[in-house]
Amino acid sequence: MAETRRKFLKQVALGTAAFCVSPRTRVLGANERIGIGMIGVGGRGQELLQQVLELPTTQLIAIADVYSRRREEARHLAPGIQTLDDYRRLLDLKNIEAVIVASPLHIHARHFLDTLSAGKDLYSEKTMTWSIPEAEQCLAAAKKSDRVIQIGLQHESSGALADARKWIRDGVVGKVTQVESWMSRNTPHGNGQWVRPVPSDCTPQNVGWKAFLNGRPDRQFDAFKFINWRLFWEFSGGNVTENMVHQIAWIMSALNLPLPVSAYMSGGVFSEKDGRQVPDTIAVTLDFPNDLVVTWQSTFSNSNYGLGERILGSDGTIEHLSGVNDMVTGSSEDSTRYYPEKVNRPDSVARVGETVDQNHMANWVDCMRSRKTPNATVDIGYRSAIAAHMANLAYRQKQCITLEAAKSAESQF
Ligand SMILES: NC(=O)c1ccc[n+]([C@@H]2O[C@H](COP(=O)([O-])OP(=O)(O)OC[C@H]3O[C@@H](n4cnc5c(N)ncnc54)[C@H](O)[C@@H]3O)[C@@H](O)[C@H]2O)c1
Repeated sequence: MAETRRKFLKQVALGTAAFCVSPRTRVLGANERIGIGMIGVGGRGQELLQQVLELPTTQLIAIADVYSRRREEARHLAPGIQTLDDYRRLLDLKNIEAVIVASPLHIHARHFLDTLSAGKDLYSEKTMTWSIPEAEQCLAAAKKSDRVIQIGLQHESSGALADARKWIRDGVVGKVTQVESWMSRNTPHGNGQWVRPVPSDCTPQNVGWKAFLNGRPDRQFDAFKFINWRLFWEFSGGNVTENMVHQIAWIMSALNLPLPVSAYMSGGVFSEKDGRQVPDTIAVTLDFPNDLVVTWQSTFSNSNYGLGERILGSDGTIEHLSGVNDMVTGSSEDSTRYYPEKVNRPDSVARVGETVDQNHMANWVDCMRSRKTPNATVDIGYRSAIAAHMANLAYRQKQCITLEAAKSAESQF
């Protein structure tokens, strides 16, 4: 006992005690509900809020959001919850054991670190952080913590990933030297992808602007940027952190890849020149150790090929498609398939993936009960974040960037 206390005081002196103090490590009984809080209840936050409400084993206690409209919307969706404008008050609440973070990208790291410091379990939306140094900080904090952390990379819970892993494990894919992946969308002429209208009540009186800025240089309230933060580097990483991160995490998990050794990204704002900074047309090349190149390309002015990944092996191909249109029939396809390379596997046959998706939110909640590790670990959150930030740094610098150069870059801009 005295030894435990001495250890605790030493941790306090080192400033690491908060990560080690656990309000709950016991396994919960089947009928006990887990008290949940949420930080950021905008577009994605409200989807996650509804997912939580559908789970009988959780109880949504409170939400924190800097915009009064979002607090009202959350109250409407979940009458009786407490609504706060400062997330720190939410973290003070003792009956909240776990927190879901769905704030804009540039605030993820603060909310991630403070949630762990408060001793709560965490579900943090992707991309894990806005920058590489923040990703290092969050990984280090998670390693010191015993909290259950799920990253909002829901494709880590997909049946497609389970199928791809199984086929790779079975040895029917062979040596993989290349993976191609893509993601494409379109909008009506004149309406840029992601642009949201600014509600009339989005005013300095109704928005905690300084908290939104999160340490960025202070300036006059800008309602357009507050609503459309995705379009600007200060707050966003563009489509690489919005969408590539999902696919690169999936590819890295399927093939168990380490960090890329170098990255290159070309493209620009070509589809709608509406004042946005982040490119809408993108081609990324990531080099991995052990003879592997992964490419990802993306456009916002053609949606025909939806999104997909093709793992190209010497013995076979794994193809995962979503929303891909057949040019002749016009029908759209979602599938995971394996095709053998007849030169090396003459007797193999094609396979179709049949594993059903797991509920990513339910997986987090189950793990909070069992204290097991959820499907989308901090480690894959970290590796996919680094890959995304390397690509963006290469784009900003207009040159190929190595992992070392990306990690020591002075600025993320
Ligand atoms: N996993 C997925 O499929 C998926 C899908 C969409 C979005 N996302 C991610 O979810 C996150 C949010 O995206 P969104 O589209 O919901 O954005 P959004 O702008 O609609 O919502 C963000 C919310 O955070 C609030 N907010 C801003 N600063 C805050 C602060 N300091 N404290 C508390 N609240 C604050 C805003 O008022 C807003 O309600 C992003 O990281 C995005 O990449 C994930």
